Amino acid sequence: MTDPMVGKGSADAQPTAPDDIGMRGGVQSAVEAAVSPVSAIVWRHGALELLDQRVLPHASTRLRYSECGEVADAIREMVVRGAPAIGVAAAYAVVLAARRRFADDPATWRDHIDADLDRLAASRPTAVNLAWALDRMQETMDAVAAGADPEPALLEAARAMHAEDIAANRRMGELGAALIESRCEVLTHCNAGALATAGYGTALGVVRAAHAAGRIAHVYAGETRPWLQGARLTAYEMVEAGIPVTLIADSAASWAMRQGRVRWVIVGADRVAANGDVANKIGTYSLAVSARHHGVRFMVVAPTSTIDRHAASGDDIPIESRRSDELLSHAGRRVAPDGAGAWNPVFDVTPAALVDALVTEHGVVEAPDRDRIAALLARAKS
Ligand code: MRU
Repeated sequence: MTDPMVGKGSADAQPTAPDDIGMRGGVQSAVEAAVSPVSAIVWRHGALELLDQRVLPHASTRLRYSECGEVADAIREMVVRGAPAIGVAAAYAVVLAARRRFADDPATWRDHIDADLDRLAASRPTAVNLAWALDRMQETMDAVAAGADPEPALLEAARAMHAEDIAANRRMGELGAALIESRCEVLTHCNAGALATAGYGTALGVVRAAHAAGRIAHVYAGETRPWLQGARLTAYEMVEAGIPVTLIADSAASWAMRQGRVRWVIVGADRVAANGDVANKIGTYSLAVSARHHGVRFMVVAPTSTIDRHAASGDDIPIESRRSDELLSHAGRRVAPDGAGAWNPVFDVTPAALVDALVTEHGVVEAPDRDRIAALLARAKS
């Protein structure tokens, strides 16, 4: 069962306590150092704690999970969301699954854990970080000796992914900030911040680094209907960080560009195809079209775990559709008349040709295309 640990307000906005099991040292220290009021994922006392992003910013509630299936449900229901955060949460869920299966039967746990992995993989389809994390955990499982308890090795692997994502975000922050030549205003969409990652953020990592360097004066955040990740989460993170933020309706973005208010659009990604096409929150494509029309630069910030070399182009990326009532109702109240339907794709694909820069932890790809992405991936491997 999930266990709502902490009530409303900032009661849990404290650095997390050191864990009671597992490794000590470099990886753990890096993870602990990143824990903050906007830390989406914490492994504590042998269980996974997720900051419930459905209720932010009004309540800061951490839910505690000790069963893999419950984490899969939490991902589907968007307790935790954002591509890298989903991947790291799934990695910890595999630890929970292995613990349960091994306790049930140390001889046959491997035969049963596939069902847990399948359930996790099906929880949200677009963010490739989920499949990437499960593949890495599978490799770790394959290396566990027959009869050995898989939990220590899996926990170490999950923690490594957690720490690597934070480090990647910090590196992307530096690289992306360096692209912004002079003090300006930028626009972001959805939430690609600490809440959407293991910590610091991708697009908002660039915003954090560039603001600290004096290159960003101010951020416009699109509200991001229907889940309002921009209004609820990005604005929360920016206020928390002391970075000036102004919320706009999604439909105000082109007008803001037309008025010369925006120099860069900076977004994250859920999946980048091998040719550089970018799947991200619905509305990103419109921003890219409008940015090109208005001479505004368009930056995508994503770790290499978000690049799917098996997707030749955006056409190969599965786009999640969510329930129509997310659009037909607002704040629990029906806004559309009975009889109206709704189409609710929650991601779209921006063609690579509209992307000026793809920022990864292994470098910046200007005007990404198939060859440049392949070169980046080769560099990342070496
Ligand atoms: O539906 P969500 O909130 O999971 O969508 C998240 C996004 O679209 C983010 O921009 C993307 O995952 C990048 S997060 C660093």
